[in-house]
Amino acid sequence: MTCTPVPTVIMSKMHAVLIKDGQGPIENLYIGETDKPVPTKGQVLVKIVAFGINSMDHYQRQGASYILGVEFSGRGVTRWAVGDEVFGLVGGGAYAEFVNCDEGLLLKKPGHLSWVEAASIPENYITAYQALVKYGEVKKGDHVLVHAGASGVGIAAIQMARALGATTVTATASTTAKLDWLRSIPNGATHTVNYKTEDFAAEGVDVVIDFVGQSHWAKNVESLAIDGRMTILATLSGSEVPAVNLGPILYKRLRIQGSTLRSRSLQYQTELISSLNFRDIIDKVTGANGGGPMRTYIHKVSTFFCSSHPVRHGRTTPQVYPWAEIQSAHHEMADNKNSGKIVVEVQ
Ligand SMILES: NC(=O)c1ccc[n+]([C@@H]2O[C@H](COP(=O)([O-])OP(=O)(O)OC[C@H]3O[C@@H](n4cnc5c(N)ncnc54)[C@H](OP(=O)(O)O)[C@@H]3O)[C@@H](O)[C@H]2O)c1
Repeated sequence: MTCTPVPTVIMSKMHAVLIKDGQGPIENLYIGETDKPVPTKGQVLVKIVAFGINSMDHYQRQGASYILGVEFSGRGVTRWAVGDEVFGLVGGGAYAEFVNCDEGLLLKKPGHLSWVEAASIPENYITAYQALVKYGEVKKGDHVLVHAGASGVGIAAIQMARALGATTVTATASTTAKLDWLRSIPNGATHTVNYKTEDFAAEGVDVVIDFVGQSHWAKNVESLAIDGRMTILATLSGSEVPAVNLGPILYKRLRIQGSTLRSRSLQYQTELISSLNFRDIIDKVTGANGGGPMRTYIHKVSTFFCSSHPVRHGRTTPQVYPWAEIQSAHHEMADNKNSGKIVVEVQ
């Protein structure tokens, strides 16, 4: 009798940002070794160059037992043509050397975008498009109010509204520096309000993009014009409003719409991303100095982190976090310090 050896399946390994104990505070993030994903039918394996950091990652880190990260740029290594430069959206797993991405959620990276710029775009621009165009039905001549103006999604929404012909775009944020910057960028805010010290309510706004919820609810409703639309993307100040006056919603014929992205079906997300309307918008996004009507702004690493990490000197993209500093990147986001998108490079 001869014995046939059982073939051993050796799973390839990769590095990724993992979470000690599966979940927890920022200090639990570390780079470790894990299984490299294996693409299934309809998926593309992508070698990641850079990934974007999102507010959602912060919450997921505290309750997740998987690899964080919902957007990236990199090279396709299966399907498409091997080596194609791509960027896209995933349900998770982008804080890694490799990720599987559904073909429909992948976009070809245009030559005018760097890897870092490309990684900063998917979540912000798809979310802003959905909120402002699909649900908000923004049109030429509209007056628009965008809260959390200096957030990644906020900046995308401000520029998109201007590019689509809004007459005014009022943005709110918490600091003078953020507000000054929002007015200074091309197609930036026409008006700004510090929501901590000023009253943003001004009647006659056609579209409100809200991330704040509870503390802004009454003023948002007050601000909306007849037939106004509000898209709610988050409830950063809380989700319960003690008293709601339905009167203005009725007599102003307001439409109030909640919007989520990652919980939507693959088919929905694929159709959204492949729609001609969206493609037309995304094709117009350039880097900060690229001259486009909409630009992606990468949050600069603060001086504190630069001086404490001299290794960064001499890097080609000095404003971006190397992934060894993933904890610093999460701290910057948790402290609401960013003006623009926080992007991390995989090295
Ligand atoms: N529903 C969806 O489809 C969807 C998709 C993507 C993101 N989101 C949500 O959209 C929000 C923005 O995401 P992002 O990644 O662009 O965020 P981000 O760049 O990290 O910026 C978030 C900003 O929100 C502002 N903020 C925080 N708490 C606030 C409060 N209580 N009141 C008013 N403003 C507050 C802060 O700016 P200030 O200093 O100006 O206060 C903060 O910098 C997040 O809440 C995220 O979860 C929703």
